[in-house]
Amino acid sequence: MSKLYLPPTESDIKEISKIADYYSNELGYVSYGELRDGIEGNSLIISKDLNTNTIVGYVLWRTRKRDSITRVYSFGVLPSYSRQGIGRELLKFVPRPIILSCPESSVSGREFYLSQGFKNFNIKQGRKQKLYEFKLD
Ligand SMILES: CC(C)(COP(=O)(O)OP(=O)(O)OC[C@H]1O[C@@H](n2cnc3c(N)ncnc32)[C@H](O)[C@@H]1OP(=O)(O)O)[C@@H](O)C(=O)NCCC(=O)NCCS
Repeated sequence: MSKLYLPPTESDIKEISKIADYYSNELGYVSYGELRDGIEGNSLIISKDLNTNTIVGYVLWRTRKRDSITRVYSFGVLPSYSRQGIGRELLKFVPRPIILSCPESSVSGREFYLSQGFKNFNIKQGRKQKLYEFKLD
């Protein structure tokens, strides 16, 4: 199955939001405004399945001007497309160094980040669950 990795446009927001909603327990709420900011700031990439012409994954980040550290805010691949290397490809677009928090409920997230060379440098109590903090230099 061939995939395309590209920056989305305004018309893609609804479809991206559906993936975020699917993983709301892991990803929290991702607003249309945040997705729009990602498009304007070139800090949002999607993966499209060219056979079905649907969006199957995305990654949203922000890079701090002060120290150029990037925080990944939201990252999801549809379950029917998991373990096909899509997350790994999306991650290639994210500028280093990267920091992020991953909730305890996201086993796939933790396994994924560890497999990609991230280090778990802290575990803190979030509002609803424990958050695993990861970094990649
Ligand atoms: C995390 C996520 C984005 C990974 O996307 P993906 O496209 O499935 O990841 P990849 O196929 O690129 O996986 C790369 C490697 O990560 C590891 N990995 C990924 N998912 C895993 C899982 N569920 N269990 C164990 N290892 C896993 C494996 O080592 C995998 O390589 P392999 O398939 O060759 O063994 C996806 O599982 C997801 O959307 N999860 C739910 C939302 C979420 O938790 N997002 C992160 C919030 S912090």
